[in-house]
Amino acid sequence: MTTINENKVQAIIWTRGELSLLDQRHLPSRTEYLAIDSAQAAAAAIRAMVVRGAPAIGITAAYAIVLAGRRRLAEHGSAWREAFEQDLELLSAARPTAVNLRWAVARMRQVADQNEDGTVLAALTATAESIHAEDVASNHRMGELGAACIGAANGVLTHCNAGSLATGGYGTALGVIRRAYADGRIREVYAGETRPWLQGARLTAWELVQEGIPVTLIPDSAAAHLMRERRFDWVIVGADRVAANGDAANKIGTYSLAVNARHHGVKFMVVAPTSTIDLETACGNDVPIEERGGDEVTTCAGTQIAPSAARACNPVFDVTPAELIDVLVTEQGVIRRPRRESIEALFTGPGGR
Ligand code: MRU
Repeated sequence: MTTINENKVQAIIWTRGELSLLDQRHLPSRTEYLAIDSAQAAAAAIRAMVVRGAPAIGITAAYAIVLAGRRRLAEHGSAWREAFEQDLELLSAARPTAVNLRWAVARMRQVADQNEDGTVLAALTATAESIHAEDVASNHRMGELGAACIGAANGVLTHCNAGSLATGGYGTALGVIRRAYADGRIREVYAGETRPWLQGARLTAWELVQEGIPVTLIPDSAAAHLMRERRFDWVIVGADRVAANGDAANKIGTYSLAVNARHHGVKFMVVAPTSTIDLETACGNDVPIEERGGDEVTTCAGTQIAPSAARACNPVFDVTPAELIDVLVTEQGVIRRPRRESIEALFTGPGGR
């Protein structure tokens, strides 16, 4: 299989058993793919944010596990499973907040456990490809469901990048925006620049431009002012982990957008597949929040922008409490004002995962 994602933008390419990743560190100035040939190389790429976004790092880990299985079987013969398990642990630990990574590793581990050595590589490959294809299908479904929730919006604001680049293709929040734009429900798409890594400026704006969707970039700090001016009717974001009670961890800055949205009567939508919902995380306080190096704050595009003696604090995710979320869109359905019972029902009701 070559291409699961039919969009112009492809973060992950799996062709004839080989994995390459669009190096998102260089966007929008360079479109460069990096060949990944081992679990070690994949874990390093995830840590360095060559590939990022909750579903995309899960899919990358799944393909990396196929590479790991192939390599460990070749190196160790029938004694391959111990080294393979170390590869799984390495991938699982590459980034802590997005639960899709652990979810994909757990699903691949189960397949490895259920297969003999003779069938395991084919089974791992089929599962990784399914994880990828299911993600794209979920995004299309969420696009339809989320767009249907939007009446006629003057403007919507998105944060970070929850598009093709962050997923198997099409995107979660950007999937809804794509679909709503195509349906004529949205007049203007605004993207917050998303300091310090600038996912909004470098990735979301680039991705929307590639798709021919006009985008207006704003400094993150302009959001409250523009809400007061009624420029947006909706804030639409993705998530890295949704806890069992509906609290949603997402890119730093999402929480303040949710507080501001409630204050100004702007609706707040979280779009996330059920692979992002973690029933083992009871509430937002239990989500591990990744902190990255202070250099991401004190520099911009490689240039020092703060005095070198200044310290920096760089938590890269925050948690939006469920009570600030008006709509949670999953591929299994839409939940208004999410809470524990309605989230559990996604997993236990008809068609539940
Ligand atoms: O640090 P990143 O770029 O991996 O953070 C990504 C986000 O926070 C996205 O909004 C989230 O993963 C949803 S992606 C569909």
